Amino acid sequence: MKSKIAGTGYYVPEEVVTNFDLEKIIDTSDAWIQERTGIKERRFAKKGEETTSTMGAAAARMAIHNAGIETEEVDFIIMATLSPDYYFPGAGVLVQRELGLQKKEVGALDIRTQCTGFIYALSVADQFIRGGMYKNILVIGSEMHSMGMDMTTRGRGISVIFGDGAGAVVLQAVGDEEKSGILSSNLHANGDFAEELAMVSPGSHAGYHEKNPAKYGAEGASVYDSVFITPEVVENGLYFPYMNGQLVFKNAVIKFTQTINEALAKTGKTKEDIDMLIPHQANLRISQFIQKRMGLRDDQVWNNIQRYGNTTAASIPIALAEAVQNEAIQRGDLVCLSAFGSGFTWGSVLLNY
Ligand code: UT7
Repeated sequence: MKSKIAGTGYYVPEEVVTNFDLEKIIDTSDAWIQERTGIKERRFAKKGEETTSTMGAAAARMAIHNAGIETEEVDFIIMATLSPDYYFPGAGVLVQRELGLQKKEVGALDIRTQCTGFIYALSVADQFIRGGMYKNILVIGSEMHSMGMDMTTRGRGISVIFGDGAGAVVLQAVGDEEKSGILSSNLHANGDFAEELAMVSPGSHAGYHEKNPAKYGAEGASVYDSVFITPEVVENGLYFPYMNGQLVFKNAVIKFTQTINEALAKTGKTKEDIDMLIPHQANLRISQFIQKRMGLRDDQVWNNIQRYGNTTAASIPIALAEAVQNEAIQRGDLVCLSAFGSGFTWGSVLLNY
């Protein structure tokens, strides 16, 4: 038994936010954003009408339709996001409810590995299928970054980069004779870099990792005190994401390349065999660097960050679904998915589509 991607789907909100729109509220410029990241525009969800789970469910419906199965045939859900509807429960159960799958009481698992979330989710789903536990697993990446970014000049290093959207696949059990299937998945992490790309509050840390409880309003706190959201956290904007951009960039280009090569080496393939590389859409410059390193042509790498920005866990499944929709990927093609991001976490999945 192995697993194949039976159907792909994606959803992006209607509201287009261009770099010129951002110029009006932040000290930034279209030229800066395009030169450093390649991004021209991104989508922002309608607050109070759309959420991470509703977008995830919309992408899932398309994936289910394209897989040619009924929703009731889904027997497990894996949901990757860093921007869930609720602190808890995870967005997996909310997607389950949106799809009406609560009636079947199928399991719903949440994955928290940020930009690498979809790679981890796909790998976990693949193991469940190989182990014979499930037949059709819905694997989703969905993000609503616009829920909580610092849309002032203070936050410009982050706010101009990220966008909202969702992508999904149905991963299906197939026999060994089938030409489509996942060949290898590779997962990595290094917690030394946890705070280099992070949103640390609200949380339980109370300044522990920085050895600075006062910064988070937790100095002298008793065991009865709530330290989850303190006035200090709110006043100092400590609940916004932070990124050490240059450090992330330097590590990304190394690890992306390493993990793609790792997938090729494990399966006895070479870079010449790759029909399509779908890198996590972190930054067009990173994708171009990898493309050059791997010696791939433009038509062998899918880039859509220009239109959607960085949608973290959603970026790979959106790009995959778009590439399939545009017939840039055919059944049987060798496709490499690869990601790097917060954690640091990174990894790759090599598959025959
Ligand atoms: O998906 C997760 C993985 N994430 C990534 O892979 C992201 C990796 N990092 C990057 O893509 C880049 O580091 C960024 C695009 C985030 C930033 O580009 P950079 O070339 O590293 O810029 P920088 O942060 O070093 O900032 C350069 C200058 C600074 O000004 P000074 O100090 O040189 O005067 C910033 O204040 O650019 C300034 N700056 C901006 N200017 C206009 C930072 N953000 C902006 C902005 N608009 N939005």
